[in-house]
Amino acid sequence: MKTVITYGTFDLLHYGHIEIFRRAKELADGGKLIIGLSSDEFNATKGKTSHMPYEKRKELVEAIRYVDKVIPEENWEQKKNDITEHDVDVFVMGSDWKGKFDELKDLCEVVYLERTPAISSTAIKNVIAELQAIEADS
Ligand code: CTP
Repeated sequence: MKTVITYGTFDLLHYGHIEIFRRAKELADGGKLIIGLSSDEFNATKGKTSHMPYEKRKELVEAIRYVDKVIPEENWEQKKNDITEHDVDVFVMGSDWKGKFDELKDLCEVVYLERTPAISSTAIKNVIAELQAIEADS
């Protein structure tokens, strides 16, 4: 039984997110999956805005059966502290982050899982924007 952690915004929750939760929970081998959910303020520092506010995203992520706990991600530096505080054995991110968190290998196992192809929050946001434009024109 292991404790696994992964981070992200998980905006407009989609099947790519569910897939990473499922595989991360598998790595926990009967243990816990913790999600570090990016806060709206942290996203703002990255110039990123989400369609859904933090509290709504949290509600949705918590509804997924693979997820045991949701904590806020408020800065880039907190990961080391989270790993120690929550006794994390495995740090998981999607393959778009490959190599970016290798420094954490001193503290726990670091695993990059293949991204699910052809789906992203950005793609869904673009579809919503197109639909809104069509609606505004009619
Ligand atoms: N992820 C994944 N497969 C996808 C989309 C995301 O495995 N198709 C993973 C990412 O690699 C990351 C986590 O889910 O580890 C959270 O990603 P996030 O950035 O919140 O989702 P995206 O859909 O990639 O959002 P965006 O379009 O804003 O980048």
